[in-house]
Amino acid sequence: MTPTELNQQLQSLDTPAALKHVLEQFGSRVALASSMGAEDQVLTHMLKSISPQARVFTLDTGRLHQQTYDLIDRTRNEMGVDLQVYFPAATEVETYVREHGINGFYDSVENRRQCCRIRKLEPLKRALSGLDIWITGLRAEQSVTRTAMELVEWDESHGLFKYNPLLHWSEEQVWEYLREHQVPVNALHREGYPSIGCAPCTRAVKPGEDIRAGRWWWEQPEHKECGLHR
Ligand code: ADX
Ligand code: SF4
Repeated sequence: MTPTELNQQLQSLDTPAALKHVLEQFGSRVALASSMGAEDQVLTHMLKSISPQARVFTLDTGRLHQQTYDLIDRTRNEMGVDLQVYFPAATEVETYVREHGINGFYDSVENRRQCCRIRKLEPLKRALSGLDIWITGLRAEQSVTRTAMELVEWDESHGLFKYNPLLHWSEEQVWEYLREHQVPVNALHREGYPSIGCAPCTRAVKPGEDIRAGRWWWEQPEHKECGLHR
């Protein structure tokens, strides 16, 4: 099957029906990558409602906010999700810290990308091995780097389909769903963090600022991807 064919099958369905179709088609070879963000909590809740066995994983970089760790626990305990947590390789982190310092990511875009490579990309590769398709919470509205994405794409760098069910959802739709279904969310959202990554690389945004303005705020918008999504 090509991404275009899968796109055609999913386009006419609403999001829960499309997710159900993907779960039926790919069985245990599909998983949601959750950063524990608002969009991911929508998808985790939908997947759990469709199939309690649906696989959800998160990449713990070791530099997340306490509030994010609290949400990992709440998602497991309150929502009953068997959330799988992937960690970076200890020796790679140790080498990076020796060479660039514990906060070396502030020094250059290259150093920052290397940290993301070690703490996110390598664990992602392990999480995706054996899968035919992965699901993300990406939305087109989030960034200039995301406007041209498709619902289903071929992920060249990882060699599998990538499905972005919320691509055309608005921020309002996301929050309406979370409220309606009383889904637990990261406490930082209430403190001005619409988009949450690692603690040292995320800050709150001011009213009216871009929703990703607080991510790697010292870099230009076109650099603001960590390599999970090129
Ligand atoms: S990022 O590339 O800038 O960090 P963002 O935080 O917007 O991405 O999240 C976009 C999507 O990427 C999430 O909805 C999720 O599917 C995936 N993702 C990002 N960070 C993680 C993470 N730490 N663990 C698992 N998936 C993640
Ligand atoms: Fe490292 Fe910051 Fe990337 Fe997290 S977001 S992996 S701390 S550079």
